[in-house]
Amino acid sequence: MAFPTETVYGLGADATQAKAVERIYAVKGRPITNPIIVHVADIERAKRYAAEWPEMAQKLAEQFWPGPLTLVLPKSPQIVDQVTAGLPTVGLRVPNHPVALELLREFDGAIGAPSANRSMRVSPTLAEHVREELGDDVELILDGGPCDVGIESTVLDLSSETPGVLRPGMVTRMMIEQVIGPVEIRPPLGDIAHPAQSPGQQLVHYAPRTPAFRFNATQAMRVSTEGAGLIDIAAIDQPRYNEATITLPADPEQYARHFYAALRHLDRMDLRAIYVEMPPESPAWTPVRDRVRRATRPLA
Ligand code: TXA
Ligand code: MG
Repeated sequence: MAFPTETVYGLGADATQAKAVERIYAVKGRPITNPIIVHVADIERAKRYAAEWPEMAQKLAEQFWPGPLTLVLPKSPQIVDQVTAGLPTVGLRVPNHPVALELLREFDGAIGAPSANRSMRVSPTLAEHVREELGDDVELILDGGPCDVGIESTVLDLSSETPGVLRPGMVTRMMIEQVIGPVEIRPPLGDIAHPAQSPGQQLVHYAPRTPAFRFNATQAMRVSTEGAGLIDIAAIDQPRYNEATITLPADPEQYARHFYAALRHLDRMDLRAIYVEMPPESPAWTPVRDRVRRATRPLA
């Protein structure tokens, strides 16, 4: 079953049932080495599925849940190994979406849910995206309208000595550090010297089918938009669609909300290529820049 969250739509199954979780991997074509995030209704229920609940987890959960922050903690035995890809830890979060919360409260358990797309593709931010992507492989889609955040949650590892961000998201490093102090970023994206601790760290991931390239201001003159799509940025309030050019607002939250829908739109148009203007280099843009990097290759 697919359901909305504030970040992206998830494809859910009971995280305590191996057979149900295996079905998710099958439908997504997901490598069994890639662990799945577990969703719960509140802090009390999260504690049931973590073997330890450190002070840091309590503080962060109180500050950011429900919301786009996943906490990686030692897992309780109830969470099946299929969910965590054999890891001794589980990623837990309380999503900030009324439909997801009602579902989780009624179910009163743990729902393992990766994004509701085929593996390596762009995450869905509308119910229609899920249908388009998974077709009859998903029986039920709860339609909660467009996702408000639009990119996947921040994944924070609390199972090691120093907390580490495994995947940046709209709960930023700075926001986390204000609550628990120093946090590391690990490992550097695309650093093949360090085997990924979190498979979401693979460099090209969440990519459209059309060859997609990113460019910065100094390369802008070299981009030929002939037969190609373009996603650029301007000081506007709402996205602007003009044939194969989509202009997104120069605000990280607005940009994040609309980026995946924009990519999908251009991907449907049978273009030669998609060019994406790289957003500015500032901390507020870090999660968005990460998703642009994963969806594209650098312009040669
Ligand atoms: O916003 C989101 O997090 C969405 C919605 C549906 O909640 N879900 C999502 O799930 O993005 P998915 O499967 O696309 O991302 C799962 C990623 C893994 O690739 C890995 O990076 C990290 O979360 N992860 C999950 N469990 C982990 C664990 N035990 N240790 C390390 N990383 C983990
Ligand atoms: Mg995903």
